[in-house]
Amino acid sequence: MVGKKPTCFSNDWNFSGPVFQSLEILDRPAGLAQDARLMSEQTDKKSTAFMEALASLCKRRGFIFQSSEIYGGINGFWDYGPLGCELKRNIKEAWWNSVVRQRDDVEGLDASIIMHPKIWEASGHVESFTDPMVDCKKCKGRWRADQLPETKCPQGGPHEFTEARKFNLMFKTFVGPVEESSSVAYLRPETAQAIFAQYKNVLEVSRQKIPFGIAQIGKAFRNEINPRNYTFRSREFEQMELEFFIKPGTDAEWHEYWVKQRLDWYASIGFAPDHLHQLVYGKDELAHYASACVDITYDFPFGTQELEGIAARGNFDLSQHQKFSGKSMEYFDQETKEKYIAHVVEPSAGVDRIALALLCEAYSEETVTDEKGQAETRVVMRFHPRIAPIKVAVFPLLKNKPELVAKARGVFEALRKRWSAFYDEAGAIGRRYRRQDEAGTPFGVTVDFQTLEDGTVTLRDRDTMRQTRVKVADLAGRLAESLE
Ligand code: GAP
Repeated sequence: MVGKKPTCFSNDWNFSGPVFQSLEILDRPAGLAQDARLMSEQTDKKSTAFMEALASLCKRRGFIFQSSEIYGGINGFWDYGPLGCELKRNIKEAWWNSVVRQRDDVEGLDASIIMHPKIWEASGHVESFTDPMVDCKKCKGRWRADQLPETKCPQGGPHEFTEARKFNLMFKTFVGPVEESSSVAYLRPETAQAIFAQYKNVLEVSRQKIPFGIAQIGKAFRNEINPRNYTFRSREFEQMELEFFIKPGTDAEWHEYWVKQRLDWYASIGFAPDHLHQLVYGKDELAHYASACVDITYDFPFGTQELEGIAARGNFDLSQHQKFSGKSMEYFDQETKEKYIAHVVEPSAGVDRIALALLCEAYSEETVTDEKGQAETRVVMRFHPRIAPIKVAVFPLLKNKPELVAKARGVFEALRKRWSAFYDEAGAIGRRYRRQDEAGTPFGVTVDFQTLEDGTVTLRDRDTMRQTRVKVADLAGRLAESLE
């Protein structure tokens, strides 16, 4: 359940203030004991401090920036800087590899964002993709009806709320030069519907047989009333969705299979298993056409929240498209000679939410002693090597020794052919290590005077800070053990 601290919709074009502006507080049971409440307040403060430290690092190191920051930002939109876009790319690669490339039974799709508006009628989004919303008649602020503000109206006295009304979350636009109702189109609020619309084409060209799946990664847009918790609930985000088409009656076993597959994938990219949970929907919480749904949730500092939903959706979507398009969505099973509309299991994940969860998972501060014996705080992003934006950084010990620089550049050029690598010769070596710790680079390679004598370099491990000497010729092999 989403929480109680509201943010006002009317300020959207004037986003300013701390990046982590609106902490979402999870609903707590009524009648909470006083000391428990105090503890929760302390926990809330801690989580705000953690998220502010993380957001500050993300800005400082180029993971995440506010969209349009030079104009004051725009609420619910974010840009990923040099490290952030590598991080997202690695998440998408890991997903695509696991869901498409390593399987015989899943095909890929890359569909357009704007599609025929009938798609959204068939899917039910035009009619019911809504949140209840109320306005204040005095200050014109707008809130979700379940997240009303406890504060007074800025115009004085209490807010004067309108009745709750439905607010459709799809962004509307017009196709072609004329702005009229017949040219209305929508920015897709999910990638899934294009998969259903192209199901027959993919089935035909790939010559797959049921069970098989179609996967897609791409942008989705939702005009969320309260974007919040940093990038967690945004208005523009990326989804990774799989529609796995199955024979009716096999829903439960395939649903169980995909929940397990997806949990294994999260472990493979560095999530601690005890930070992930399964939220199993009760029969009375399911959509009328669904037979099962499990959310994979993560312990964010601001509460346990959804990363991915895995739903057994029956044949609702294909049946709707058959009805609205007039095109048959039936499948003919050559072996059993049966005709049916396939059922579907849908694992649907958000790239930005996974990126935020990985940033939370990775962030750590520890006290270490520097070269002069002084205690200092080391901020280190402990990303899993497969996910880390930069895999290896290469340093010449001194930048004013051409023989060290030439050798280090050579090592760097060789490594960058295979992995995202970074070359840095600026400043003391300790500072260079710290910069890479903040970027989450798992390995640092230093070329020093011994390299010129025996062809070895030091290989520094980000997490233990231990350094070992490795022959340049063995370097790629050593890195590959962790990176591939
Ligand atoms: N086709 C099913 C579907 O779209 P959803 O639960 O609405 O289901 C799937 O979205 C995933 O997309 C969520 O689990 C979440 O990771 C991501 N997502 C949804 N809305 C989001 C938002 N406003 N900001 C960021 N990610 C979002």
